[in-house]
Amino acid sequence: MTSRRPHIEGFAIISREGMIAASDGSFPENLKIPADQKFYQDSVDRAAAVANGRHSSEGGPKEAARRRIVLTRRVERVVPDPDNTNAILWNPASAPFEEAWMKLNLEDGTLAVVGGTDVFGLFLNIGYDVFFLTRTEASVPRGRPVFPGVGKNATPEEVFARHGMVLRATRMLDPATNTRLEEWVPKG
Ligand SMILES: NC(=O)c1ccc[n+]([C@@H]2O[C@H](COP(=O)([O-])OP(=O)(O)OC[C@H]3O[C@@H](n4cnc5c(N)ncnc54)[C@H](OP(=O)(O)O)[C@@H]3O)[C@@H](O)[C@H]2O)c1
Repeated sequence: MTSRRPHIEGFAIISREGMIAASDGSFPENLKIPADQKFYQDSVDRAAAVANGRHSSEGGPKEAARRRIVLTRRVERVVPDPDNTNAILWNPASAPFEEAWMKLNLEDGTLAVVGGTDVFGLFLNIGYDVFFLTRTEASVPRGRPVFPGVGKNATPEEVFARHGMVLRATRMLDPATNTRLEEWVPKG
């Protein structure tokens, strides 16, 4: 029996302006913090599957072996990924999330949502069980924000609040760079 809904966890590392990437879509060197990369890879290792947009993925040696939902507007509904037998391609405009999850045919487990911007935004409405937000002192003044609107008319904490999420805990990941990990969860 497959589950209709996994435990959904989000993962992002942001600049002090709330950016996850530079304007050209590249991943900035100053957001590569080893303590965060270890936390991220260890967390994704525990997940049953990963969800990402066509230009994002978690990297690392195990990436190709992971079950995956790739978001794209190039397909209708949910179809197998012709280039990756572990992945399906999902267009959320034409099929609900439950259909994509069912197609992966997994037992209960965690889905790790790893971006980018629109994917993080879409899952705010599907509902995160927890979002792990790593905050750095690094500056990426313009670029791709963690959620649509961040950097223009909202901060990440305002976006979380708007979606009924509250800060449950903060811990220091790397004192040398003052990199902190925040856990945002649904209120109540
Ligand atoms: N700092 C971090 O934590 C973090 C996290 C994630 C990514 N990144 C970085 O961010 C950069 C890429 O991010 P990005 O936001 O440009 O790209 P992205 O979300 O990975 O990919 C964008 C593509 O995904 C598909 N997509 C996204 N949202 C969709 C939706 N709602 N419905 C259907 N398809 C959707 C579309 O594919 P089609 O064109 O096929 O329709 C779109 O062109 C990379 O440098 C990556 O390393 C950083």
